Amino acid sequence: MKVLVTGGLGFIGSHTVVELQNEGFDVVIVDNLSNSSEEVLKGIVAITGKLPIFEKLDLRDKKSVQDFFQKHNDVKGVIHFAASKAVGESVENPLLYYENNIAALVYILQELEKKEEANFIFSSSCTVYGQAEVMPITENAPVQTAMSPYGNTKQIGEEIITEVTRVSNINAILLRYFNPIGSHPSAEIGELPLGVPQNLVPFITQTGFGLRKELSVFGDDYPTPDGTAIRDYIHVVDLAKAHVIALQRLLNKKNVEKVETFNLGTGKGSSVLEVIKSFEKVSGKKLPYKICPRREGDITEAYANTDKANNVLGWKAKSTLDEAMASAWKWEQKIRS
Ligand code: NAD
Ligand code: WQD
Repeated sequence: MKVLVTGGLGFIGSHTVVELQNEGFDVVIVDNLSNSSEEVLKGIVAITGKLPIFEKLDLRDKKSVQDFFQKHNDVKGVIHFAASKAVGESVENPLLYYENNIAALVYILQELEKKEEANFIFSSSCTVYGQAEVMPITENAPVQTAMSPYGNTKQIGEEIITEVTRVSNINAILLRYFNPIGSHPSAEIGELPLGVPQNLVPFITQTGFGLRKELSVFGDDYPTPDGTAIRDYIHVVDLAKAHVIALQRLLNKKNVEKVETFNLGTGKGSSVLEVIKSFEKVSGKKLPYKICPRREGDITEAYANTDKANNVLGWKAKSTLDEAMASAWKWEQKIRS
């Protein structure tokens, strides 16, 4: 069974390719290497013993997308990770984000629309909820006005997919990730942020390794128990497994609607200080940090109600924050050695 994984050399994509190959799927990766490297293929082979097909192409090029689907006309499912994901960059360069995250999506859907049957999984984000009023966040929480062009591309992407499924043979699952962290326990693949990491966990592991002087904790005056902001940190391997289950749901026609939406989180919120403590526990190192003003655009708290994912999708995150953090730390040490 052949599956296309766009962005399959990236952070979440590469972990998903591993889980797909472990389940016996034949994987074709499309990636333009804008935020990844071909080296990731070696890690995938080291873990699974199997080299996936890799087509280097840019999904913003409509002709390349058309040619790809003509060549690989036996693709039964598509998991679409490829996108740009830096919130700040999206504010600086919105059109880059609309082209990469929306135009590319449209080109893929145009090819899938021609098929008698197509199954599509979309990487969405808890960012669509903004600051939700009720915790934990269910899939029925209202989608709020996006705070960045990046967030807007996820909302628009969800809408485009929903509209297209109404008039085509495409079935889709929208997966709203909370905060993915960690790496494969083998440390053969992991997160490779370019430049200074914007996200908390890679900043922490780089600081722990001595690459950065100290972590800036953005705000300790939030209305939370310790004053720092709360998120739902999910191990990337748990997240990857959810994609395989979602794909099987579509392939086995177990979906009850043309488009289904699931939150992917652990259901547990952790504050920035708790994340620091977790790092200190698993690494045995003291993390230098200072309290700084809040980061613009940040919300107070977000953690998932996972009932729908648990009961309908049949998936549950297994790893604890400490386990995810230990894998992130192992990876950081491996890539610096
Ligand atoms: P990533 O940057 O590590 O992976 C994305 C991959 O897509 C990269 O390998 C990149 O080279 C490739 N790519 C980008 N544009 C492309 C194009 N035009 N053509 C071909 N390949 C292209 O990101 P990630 O963290 O693995 O995120 C995957 C998806 O999950 C994205 O859609 C992202 O928006 C979404 N998401 C990520 C997070 C997170 O915190 N990491 C949270 C919620 C949602
Ligand atoms: C987590 C917490 C920061 C860095 C972002 C995107 C979101 C989604 C996931 C894709 C916050 C604090 C961080 C630092 C800190 N991506 N922090 N010092 O902001 O929840 O979400 O990534 O869809 O769209 O916005 O994740 O890891 O950046 O921050 O104190 O140096 O850590 O303020 O409370 P965030 P994050």
